[in-house]
Amino acid sequence: MRKIVIAGNWKMYKTQAEALEFLQVFMPELDKTPAERNVVLCVPFTNLDLLSKKLPASVHLGAQNVHWESEGAYTGEISASMLTEIRVRYVIIGHSERRQYFGETDETVNQRLKAAQQFDLLPILCVGETKQQRDSGETETHIYSQLDRDLVDVDQSALVIAYEPIWAIGTGDTCEVSEANRVIGLIRSRLSNQDVPIQYGGSVKPNNIDAIMAQPEIDGVLVGGASLEPGSFARIVNYQ
Ligand code: 13P
Repeated sequence: MRKIVIAGNWKMYKTQAEALEFLQVFMPELDKTPAERNVVLCVPFTNLDLLSKKLPASVHLGAQNVHWESEGAYTGEISASMLTEIRVRYVIIGHSERRQYFGETDETVNQRLKAAQQFDLLPILCVGETKQQRDSGETETHIYSQLDRDLVDVDQSALVIAYEPIWAIGTGDTCEVSEANRVIGLIRSRLSNQDVPIQYGGSVKPNNIDAIMAQPEIDGVLVGGASLEPGSFARIVNYQ
């Protein structure tokens, strides 16, 4: 049975005070959440320690990046042991925003994935095509190329993948659910372990979550904007 993973990616949003306000409304809603759903909050570094003390054990804590070295002169980076020390369990790696704005390459993504696994962090690897790649029929070749390069020597028994078409991120332009299901099936066909949970990400909202989760290939979601509002994220976590 593949695991269900519902993750919020707060990106660069929320001070500690705002994070606490979120929890006040969000946490009571978790009473309704079936136990087999893995709920994850991937928050800015400054919120991790606070949330590690405030979150119930049923909600996992995630970071949004990790460096491949265990320590060293890498200004602005964070190591896996610094994260695991404060109860961080998941880490997003290779998000398109890091690839686009911060020079992340398939090679550095691969190094980060291996380091995360070495320290028992569960990586959420993000892959997905641009609008231009989609329009010119390169979706499959691009995603296969990302997977082949990113996953060299990566243990597929401790991995989550998120399919995030870049044109659907933050745009309200959700990928058709049948198309997301098809691409996620293709991603699975490229993997050696068929049990890797594969999420969809890109304008996931309370009004489309039920249809997304009804798709047979889709094992969860990675949610940006709608994870910032506690009522919206609760509705997503408690999808029907
Ligand atoms: P939105 O849900 O805001 O489109 O963001 C998706 C995303 O990038 C999650 O990692």
